[in-house]
Amino acid sequence: METIKPALHHVTFKTTHLSQMVSWYRTVVGLEVTFQDDNNAWTTNDQANHRIAFLSVPGLSDDAEKIGHNGIHHSAFEYNTFSDLMSSYDRMRREGILPAFCLDHGVTISLYYKDPEGNFVELQSDNFGNWKESTEWMRTSPEFKRDPIGTFFDPEKVFQAHAAGRPFDSLHPAMRAGDFLPDTLPGIGLPIPSSAEMTEPAL
Ligand SMILES: [Fe+2]
Repeated sequence: METIKPALHHVTFKTTHLSQMVSWYRTVVGLEVTFQDDNNAWTTNDQANHRIAFLSVPGLSDDAEKIGHNGIHHSAFEYNTFSDLMSSYDRMRREGILPAFCLDHGVTISLYYKDPEGNFVELQSDNFGNWKESTEWMRTSPEFKRDPIGTFFDPEKVFQAHAAGRPFDSLHPAMRAGDFLPDTLPGIGLPIPSSAEMTEPAL
C-alpha cells in the first residue's frame, strides 16, 4: 500500500525551566502561547495550533552529559531571505542573544543558537531561494558529498559586510572559501575529540 505522508507538525521538549524556555523561544522565533498551565505550554508562530510544546512535570532533571547522549541535536526554522536572517541576528544580538556557532552548509546559511537548556536551534535561509533547487544540489553536488557540514563563519563579520551592502551572491562564495572564519573554531555540540564542550556544564 502507498505510504500516505503526514506533514511534520511539532516538536515537544521535556523541560525543568518552563517559563525561561517559553520566553526564550518567543524572543528568538516569535512563538506565542496557544495554551499554558502550571506544567505545560503549547506555542506556535504560524497557523498551526502548536509547533513547539513544553512538558515540565515533576521528576525531570537536567542532563549533565547532553552532548554525549543520544537525542535531538537541533530544531530549525527557516527565513524567506538571507536578509531576514541577518536582521534577526541583529535584533537578537541587541538583546545579548548570540549564536553558538555558524555554518555555511552550501545548501543554507545557518546560525545555531543554544536555548536555556542547551538544545540547539538553527535559524537558516536557503542559499538557492527555493527547496527544489537546494534539494537537487544536496542530492547531486560533489561539493556537498565532499563536505556536508560546510564552512564556519563569524556572524558579526558577515552581518557587517551585509549591512555595508555586499550582495549575497558575492558573500556566499567568500563565506564558503573561509573569508569570514571566526577567530577560534567553535564546537558543534557533538562529542568529537578536542571539543571543549565535553566538559561544559549543562545549563
Ligand atoms: Fe539542520
